[in-house]
Amino acid sequence: MSDYFLRIYKDSDYHEARDLFASGLKEHINTAFRHALGLTHVWLPALAMLTLPMLNLMSITTLILAFALALVALWFSARYMYTSYINHALSDDMLDIDKYYLQRDGYCFWVAESARGEFMGMIAALPSSNPGGEKHLELKRLSVVKQHRGKGVAKVLCRRLIDFARKRGCEAVVLTTTLPQRDACKLYDKLGFRLTDNYYYPKLLSRVVDFRILAYQYDIPAASQ
Ligand SMILES: CC(C)(COP(=O)(O)OP(=O)(O)OC[C@H]1O[C@@H](n2cnc3c(N)ncnc32)[C@H](O)[C@@H]1OP(=O)(O)O)[C@@H](O)C(=O)NCCC(=O)NCCS
Repeated sequence: MSDYFLRIYKDSDYHEARDLFASGLKEHINTAFRHALGLTHVWLPALAMLTLPMLNLMSITTLILAFALALVALWFSARYMYTSYINHALSDDMLDIDKYYLQRDGYCFWVAESARGEFMGMIAALPSSNPGGEKHLELKRLSVVKQHRGKGVAKVLCRRLIDFARKRGCEAVVLTTTLPQRDACKLYDKLGFRLTDNYYYPKLLSRVVDFRILAYQYDIPAASQ
């Protein structure tokens, strides 16, 4: 028997929902940073710089300082990718969750709660604003509290959302995530979502650190709509 259940968001969830949303995304900053460190256009110039002290073109101290500065700049770039998105969402749909998700047709916000009353995870649904996506529902704000991961909570939350989409006559569920969110990508693959797009945003900085946005789509079988 499962030791948790799904319910609709309540105002008393407000702080936990916002904190979980922000912390769930900040977890990926270090993964994005490590990914950027492995990029050829990042480590090749660094390798080339190692020759400068040998050619007496730079002191070892300056080289160490330059490396330290470059690492800090790279980490802040990775951090910026997530924090700019988090700050925007916290002052947009996550500012008044009840008003945004529960008082409009086609929107919803669910919470997974343990039998002991703990907030375990959440997921939000809204009509897609993508061109041509009038019959698509967008999945957003999926996050599960760390100590409750690996128990199938996210899978159950996603299935609830897919069911909601099916009952509303939607043809597909769509979402975007980022390359460092590997657990989320595995989850979407497992549920039968397919990768439909792969792009950089914001364009210049995200190219430097290879920060890619991945778009996924789950097609709802016609017979079950
Ligand atoms: C992604 C996330 C929601 C998954 O939550 P979860 O409750 O642990 O996921 P589930 O237990 O339902 O796992 C479902 C499937 O996802 C995959 N998966 C999830 N976490 C995984 C991991 N750490 N390693 C490998 N596969 C994993 C598996 O295929 C798993 O199915 P299986 O257990 O039958 O093999 C959770 O890791 C999270 O909150 N991450 C931070 C926020 C985030 O990235 N959200 C996604 C927004 S797009």
